[in-house]
Amino acid sequence: MKNRWLLLGLFTTLVLGGCSNTSEPNPTDINAESASLSTQAFPDPNLRAFLNASGWSRTVSLEGHIDTGNPFFQSIGSNGRSCLTCHQPGEGWTVTPAGVQRRFLFSLGTDPIFRLVDGANSPSADVSSLHARRKAYSMLLEKGLIRVGLPIPANAEFTLEAVDDPYGFASAQELSLFRRPMPTTNLSFLSAAMWDGRESIVDAAKHIDLNASLLHQSNSATRTHAQSARDLTDNERQSIVNFETKLFSTQVFDFEAGRLNVKGATGGPEALALQEFFIGINDPLGLNPSGKAFDPSAMTLYTPWQNLAAEGELNGARRAVARGQQIFNTKPINIVGVNGLNDNLGVPSIPGTCTTCHDSPNIGNHSVIAPLNIGLTDLSRRTPDLPLYTLKNKLSLETRQTTDPGRALITGKWADIGKFKGPILRNLAARAPYFHNGSAATLRDAVNFYNQRFLIGLSEPEMQDLVAFLKTI
Ligand code: HEC
Ligand code: HEC
Repeated sequence: MKNRWLLLGLFTTLVLGGCSNTSEPNPTDINAESASLSTQAFPDPNLRAFLNASGWSRTVSLEGHIDTGNPFFQSIGSNGRSCLTCHQPGEGWTVTPAGVQRRFLFSLGTDPIFRLVDGANSPSADVSSLHARRKAYSMLLEKGLIRVGLPIPANAEFTLEAVDDPYGFASAQELSLFRRPMPTTNLSFLSAAMWDGRESIVDAAKHIDLNASLLHQSNSATRTHAQSARDLTDNERQSIVNFETKLFSTQVFDFEAGRLNVKGATGGPEALALQEFFIGINDPLGLNPSGKAFDPSAMTLYTPWQNLAAEGELNGARRAVARGQQIFNTKPINIVGVNGLNDNLGVPSIPGTCTTCHDSPNIGNHSVIAPLNIGLTDLSRRTPDLPLYTLKNKLSLETRQTTDPGRALITGKWADIGKFKGPILRNLAARAPYFHNGSAATLRDAVNFYNQRFLIGLSEPEMQDLVAFLKTI
């Protein structure tokens, strides 16, 4: 493990050495400065900045260091995998296609991430040659997708009428759902665990019991992904949860806008670690336990950049980021056809903004359990690499086609088809592609999706500003 950290460090240092010809300091300085800013709270050199397409991101741990002896980094199951296999610090604590491809090249497709159980498009794929492996692991290599296998629940309100699986495996016993690993950082802000919320253990108030949920999740992950024959011990589970819930990650440096925590801006993981959060904080539907009204201006990181002078080397880019934040907070979106909102409220159209759903201040997830169907799994958005499932309602005999039934495979409810949680929107630049199925290769693609799906009418400059903002959080 230590070797991998060393390699990543070497890679970062090498790449950075090559582009130090900028007016902004190199990431070694960023690390040094952040450490001194936080009065020595985060001095560990392991918490270095990692390069991505638009700058550098960085993780801090409330422990002050990354303990690579934690069971998170240990292979406990039978197939050589650890949590680290799919949750890489340098790839936003998930995996990116570039990172997966690098591992494929170095290991000729035998690195532990390449395992038939859920790394391959089908558990029965041919992996006997390099060529065969490249084909068998194409979803992982091209989009960073893991195959989550879940059955139609026994009590479901629907049956599986037909399967069109390009890989010839999926059935009612095990649907193949191609999903992005969710980041194992910024977890202390979760309101639901997993894309479909299936690992959320809730209390009497139906709020997530985060510790209980993640203790259970760590064991499920070890039993399934790592094909472990034994359960994790209570100690192992708690160590993993203690480790992962103390991590905070964000972008810290942007090639256009420079440092993200200067001139009054509060980007960066140290500020995030101090961000207030509780279930229902800033809920738009009156679920805030403090009784406070919803404030659509949920993102305030870059508000001080709104008033920067027009001149100044980086000021133009910084003002664009601030404008993007303003668009995220205020651009009107007519929310229609979103199951979980429009149907539940009985309102065909809801005037909202990005923050109606991404409401947690400066975090961006939905602050309550609120699985929503924004239309990503509809037949109209199916790409040929995804399976298509035809579901039939047992009562009404109505049929629906979807590439991933989402929450419906957990609750068995027809109304839950295609619902997923509103995820945390921090550290985005480090971890393309986006959405549960990696269907948006870039943040621009994600913005394009919203612009088309909700007919927002964003102009080209508005889209650029919104993307500039999303890259910096
Ligand atoms: C083979 C790849 C793989 C391995 C190994 C793996 N995970 Fe994951 N992880 C995923 C995928 C894929 C998801 C999302 C699945 C879904 O939502 O259906 C996920 C989701 C998560 C989440 C949910 C985060 C959220 O925002 O809800 C946590 C926490 C997590 N993993 C922790 C772990 C831990 C701890 C381990 C080691 C015990 C581990 N994972 C091992 C692929 C992996
Ligand atoms: C109606 C609710 C809703 C609105 C409005 C909304 N989102 Fe989302 N957003 C979601 C949900 C739900 C997901 C997860 C969908 C999935 O992957 O299945 C998501 C996912 C995302 C992701 C991908 C995150 C990741 O980890 O892959 C980005 C980026 C994003 N939203 C940005 C925006 C922006 C920008 C806007 C405004 C233009 C916006 N969202 C408006 C509900 C919403």
